[in-house]
Amino acid sequence: MSVTIRAATLADSEAIVALHRAAAVTPGALARAPEEVTLAYAEAAINSDICFVAVEPEGFVCGEIHAKRETVALFAHVLGSLTVAVHPERQGRGIGSKLFEALIAWAKAQEPPVLRIELAAGAGNPGAVRLYERLGFKHEGRQVARGRLPDGRFEDDILLGMLL
Ligand SMILES: CC(C)(COP(=O)(O)OP(=O)(O)OC[C@H]1O[C@@H](n2cnc3c(N)ncnc32)[C@H](O)[C@@H]1OP(=O)(O)O)[C@@H](O)C(=O)NCCC(=O)NCCS
Repeated sequence: MSVTIRAATLADSEAIVALHRAAAVTPGALARAPEEVTLAYAEAAINSDICFVAVEPEGFVCGEIHAKRETVALFAHVLGSLTVAVHPERQGRGIGSKLFEALIAWAKAQEPPVLRIELAAGAGNPGAVRLYERLGFKHEGRQVARGRLPDGRFEDDILLGMLL
């Protein structure tokens, strides 16, 4: 099924909440547990510097990506705070890749330019890390015990970056 990638609007808020709650059921995939995904979170995502949704022909929002530019001048070329989610029933069909392609194209068109994109993934999320490697992100380090899962286990965060 073909999906359209477009900029999110506040009218997508509830759909983004539903999407993130569905994608958050796997512990350690998204940072937020389902109960932490609120309307305020979705609205803040939409009001980030960039927020794209993947939409099916009937209007179902099956994917979302958002990120923010750093505001301190030293880091103003950096796009970070990146989060991406694809509905569990739609994963593995290229939607995440399309969302990233749109985000990278947007970043390349910015003035002043975005020269670096950065993100972090839980070490227990190797599928996501593989996707980021395939997109061209490079490993930059590891934050030990950055996350703590509901069962009390700690999980490292893997830091990845891409220079444009
Ligand atoms: C990570 C995620 C955004 C990828 O989106 P996607 O639409 O499934 O990705 P694509 O179909 O474009 O690319 C598939 C690649 O994603 C990776 N992947 C991650 N989770 C996957 C899943 N559940 N099913 C299939 N592929 C998955 C694989 O590396 C796969 O590459 P491969 O075919 O070479 O193994 C999506 O799986 C997701 O939302 N996961 C839950 C939330 C999450 O982990 N977000 C990222 C936090 S850092």
